[in-house]
Amino acid sequence: MIRINENYLKLKPSYLFSEIAKRVAAFQAANPDKPIIRLGIGDVTRALPEACITAFHRAVDEMASDATFKGYGPEQGYAFLREKIAEHDYRSRGADIDADEIFVSDGAKSDTANIQEIFSVETRVAIPDPVYPVYLDTNIMAGRAGILANGRYSSIVYLDCTQENGFVPDLPGERPDLIYLCFPNNPTGAVITKGQLKRWVDYARENRALILYDAAYEAFIRDKALPRSIYEIEGSREVAIEFRSFSKTAGFTGTRCAFTVVPKDCRAYDVAGNAHGLHAFWNRRQSTKMNGVSYPVQRAAEAVYSDAGRTQVKEFVGAYMANASLIRTTMQDLGFACTGGENSPYIWVKTGMDSWEFFDMLLEKASVVCTPGAGFGRCGEGYIRISAFNSADNVNRALERIRRVLQ
Ligand code: MLT
Repeated sequence: MIRINENYLKLKPSYLFSEIAKRVAAFQAANPDKPIIRLGIGDVTRALPEACITAFHRAVDEMASDATFKGYGPEQGYAFLREKIAEHDYRSRGADIDADEIFVSDGAKSDTANIQEIFSVETRVAIPDPVYPVYLDTNIMAGRAGILANGRYSSIVYLDCTQENGFVPDLPGERPDLIYLCFPNNPTGAVITKGQLKRWVDYARENRALILYDAAYEAFIRDKALPRSIYEIEGSREVAIEFRSFSKTAGFTGTRCAFTVVPKDCRAYDVAGNAHGLHAFWNRRQSTKMNGVSYPVQRAAEAVYSDAGRTQVKEFVGAYMANASLIRTTMQDLGFACTGGENSPYIWVKTGMDSWEFFDMLLEKASVVCTPGAGFGRCGEGYIRISAFNSADNVNRALERIRRVLQ
């Protein structure tokens, strides 16, 4: 008899954004005359920057001729892209990262989901609440979550992010091995200062813990004093893996390209207490399970770092940030306390009512899709997340409708 992985029975029946898509599709089917505006899932709407498209086309043409055709590429990504990332994203900001510590992939979602498999099933995991659901769900699938009671899993260390702590979690009372952090935060839009991040790095060093740092939204940071990478913090090379993505930075959600940095100094231990380099483990995992990202996509990603690409990406991110600012001020004018939207594309709005009810109300009365905070965890109850990823016209229209409903 074939047996299933029973850990899957502990999951919520569907992934948050699939559940939302289902409700939105049902509403649309029942109300075909009501055009919906989507400020729910953080999916970009602008075309790829021109520099990326030009490089993409050129690379596709290379595939059309035997002389320039490319077959399998290096599983870790092409050197041309890894070197640009190391130079522009790290060394230029004083972060000591080498090109061969960078692993190019198809997405930060897959990497943050897959990374946990190189750690023991006994690993104690700390997860912020509210949280990007992938971190929790993949640890549930792997059997690290324990028993579900009152909406929480018994073996998970929850890091509560609340209005009181500015949505930046305090150090845990109970010692975890693996700590997920995400800044600028999805879903709250909160940011972390260098001083706050240093406390986490020091904590990880003192406790032989490891930080999984999701920096997928770093391009949206406006405040120059804020860290864009955990490697700007001294001592982090030994205790942090960082995830980045071209999805939101340059509009690659449908094109797929991201990368993960595993410094050679990062270690984890076997039962006998011997240290093992995580770089070699992740390299073994990736080279066994994937064949890299397509050549044209990596050429398109490389173009992000050209002079034209950098200018276009700035404009691209700036357009979404103008939306974010408008969403934040409008919701504040309507009397809601807001976090985010200043250094992040998400605005976390305190609704003071059940977040799924608020979601349904906005959908039914304004035909606007947001994301209910409760979908991200218990601490998200009473909040909604509004995404700035849409056209300025649609954001203006959505805010007008919201104003009409809530004023
Ligand atoms: C979100 O809306 O939270 C993101 O789009 C999800 C993702 O990047 O996978």
